[in-house]
Amino acid sequence: MTATSDQSVSDAVTAGAHATEIARSGASNLRGTAGGGADPARVSAVVGAALEGIRAAIRDHEVTYEEFDAFKQWLIAVSDTGEWPLFLDVYLEFEVEKVAAATQQGSIGTILGPFWLDGQAQLDSPATLPMRDDEPGTPMILAGQVTATDGTPLAGAKVDIWHTDSDGWYSGFAAKPPAGNLRGVVRCDDQGRFEIHTRKPAPYTIPLDGPTGQMTQAAGWSPWRPAHIHLLVTAPGHRTLTSQLFFTGDPYLGNDVASADKPELTLDPQPTGNGDEVRADRDFVLEPE
Ligand code: BEZ
Ligand code: FE
Repeated sequence: MTATSDQSVSDAVTAGAHATEIARSGASNLRGTAGGGADPARVSAVVGAALEGIRAAIRDHEVTYEEFDAFKQWLIAVSDTGEWPLFLDVYLEFEVEKVAAATQQGSIGTILGPFWLDGQAQLDSPATLPMRDDEPGTPMILAGQVTATDGTPLAGAKVDIWHTDSDGWYSGFAAKPPAGNLRGVVRCDDQGRFEIHTRKPAPYTIPLDGPTGQMTQAAGWSPWRPAHIHLLVTAPGHRTLTSQLFFTGDPYLGNDVASADKPELTLDPQPTGNGDEVRADRDFVLEPE
C-alpha cells in the first residue's frame, strides 16, 4: 500500500506543536519524574555513549560537510515544527519502554506515543466512547477485567483509551474528528470489569510533511503504524500499565515505524452477530506499587 497524506495522522505542524505543548507541560510524563539533579557520572556515561554512536556513524560512513550541514538543517526543522516528541517517540521510546518493562510484573505494555490527551470524558462501564452520530467504521466492543498480580479484581480500576477513527485520524491532533472523539476514561465495575463500545481504528502514517516523516521516507523506511488502540490502565496503589492493542491480519504488524507492536498485544475480534459489530476480550493485570 502507498502512503497518502489522507491517511497521515495529521499535518506536521499541527500535531507537532500540540505534542510539544503537552510534553513541555510534563502532563505526558506518566512513568517517571522529569529532569533535575542528574548524577554527572550518569550524564557522562549516557550522553557520552550517545555522542560516540553518532561520531562512529560519521567515521564509518565518511560523512561529508554537505551531509553535516543537511543534518543541522534537519534538526532545526524538527524544532521549528515541534516534532521532537514525535521523533523521539517513533525512534527511541520503544527502547526506554524495554528498560522499564524489565522491572514490570503483570500485563505486557508498550510505548505511550505523543497522542495521549489529559482531561477526556469520564465514563462508567459499560461505556460508549464519544463519537460522531455518523461515526464511520466497524463497531467494536473491547471488554475484559482488571486484576492485581495475585488475582484480586481491582474495583476502581480505570481504562483510559484513545485511538484513531477508521480513516486514521486522532481527535485533538487533526482537523477532521471533533475534540474528544474516540477518547475516554472508563471506570470499571466493582469486579474490575469493563466493556467499551467504539469503532475499529485504522493504520496510519506519521505526518509525512514534517522532518520525521521526510527523513523516514528518505531512508526508504515505512512510515506506517499498524492499527492500534492505546490504553492506560490504572488502579489506586498499582503501577500504571501503558499499552496498545493491535489486530491480527494487519499488513503493518512487524513493520511498525514506532517498533511498538508485540505479538502478545494482538487482538482477534470476532463477530457478535449484531450487524457488522465485532468483539475482543482482553484482561489486564496490574502490579502493586
Ligand atoms: C502512537 O502510538 O500513536 C505513536 C507512537 C510513536 C510515534 C507516533 C505515534
Ligand atoms: Fe497511536
